[in-house]
Amino acid sequence: MYNSKISGLGYYVPDHVVSNDDLTQLMDTSDEWIQERTGIQERRWVKPGSGETTSSMGVKAAKIAIERAGIDKNEIDFIVFATLSPDYYFPGPGVTVQKELGIKTVGALDVRNQCSGFVYGLSVADQFIKTGMYKHVLVIGSELHSHGLDKTTRGRGVSVIFGDGAGAAVLSRTEDTTKGILSTHLHSEGEHAEELSLIAPGMGKRWVTDILADNSEQDESYYPYMNGQFVFKNAVVRFSEVIMEGLNKNELTPQDIDMLIPHQANLRIAQFIQKKFKLSDDQVYNNIQKYGNTTAASIPIALTEAWEKGKIKEGDTVVLAAFGSGFTWGSAIIKW
Ligand code: COA
Repeated sequence: MYNSKISGLGYYVPDHVVSNDDLTQLMDTSDEWIQERTGIQERRWVKPGSGETTSSMGVKAAKIAIERAGIDKNEIDFIVFATLSPDYYFPGPGVTVQKELGIKTVGALDVRNQCSGFVYGLSVADQFIKTGMYKHVLVIGSELHSHGLDKTTRGRGVSVIFGDGAGAAVLSRTEDTTKGILSTHLHSEGEHAEELSLIAPGMGKRWVTDILADNSEQDESYYPYMNGQFVFKNAVVRFSEVIMEGLNKNELTPQDIDMLIPHQANLRIAQFIQKKFKLSDDQVYNNIQKYGNTTAASIPIALTEAWEKGKIKEGDTVVLAAFGSGFTWGSAIIKW
């Protein structure tokens, strides 16, 4: 058996900064409301007409991660791409990344687990490496939310939260089984699938011909729906459970955590977890203030930033934890 370790990290966010005040030009909201409820001050949205896509942002993050891993792109054995905002309904962006990077015909898998997509993707990559099947797996989380949000007052409960961006990690084989990804823990509860969902492009509720025939501007099913308070209540419980599950599995306690990178759902959720586990500010990394919730990209962006700032050092115990639409949630315990 081998372990997998993160050998390279990268992220990319569009230049275009959208502040809370900018949003007040589009909808009835305020900087005060957004900051008080979510902690978000600004987010990045791709500039309309820039040609930026979920996969193009993913490619930019991936190039940095591959370079930092110190490998040639042709050493990548497999691609895992997590997103809820693919360029096309099908095929998923994994194959676009394969093409854009000019990587030989390796497999490309698309993961549809929304906010926990990166942790799910990491877990899949980890299994492939642990069994010896692959040496280097590229895992990307990328989202282009801004094209799909209802930016009117009707959609303000959702649209102020989400931002665009991408993060990537290269997972590489190591023979030192005391290091790298120690364990991953994945869960779901499909009973709550519609509490945070985007119904319309799916084939389950209505046929495309019905949607075209309706052609109604009032049709909200093309926009994401979120039962915010219900999501919040579930998130704080599941985050706590899945972090403890990972710690227990590795005979660790919350005080052993050197760095917790929670999915950047809402600063209030992260602060709740921090308080519950009695963690200091140095033990938790948040950047939702700058980027909003970038869903599958949020953990790899935050992990890369924390690493770039020297907040993660060799030998550190790093915990990743996510919760989101599905509901799905998960954690990863990493010895750096
Ligand atoms: N600006 C101003 N007012 C807003 C608003 C906005 N952007 N969005 C909603 N409101 C209003 C609502 O219309 C409502 O008004 P009313 O009382 O007159 O009806 C009021 O604010 C309260 O709305 P509510 O939805 O109950 O707010 P909340 O306290 O639950 O906060 C969230 C909303 C979304 C910030 C909060 O529920 C949340 O963060 N949930 C978790 C979200 C999350 O983590 N999602 C990602 C999971 S991966």
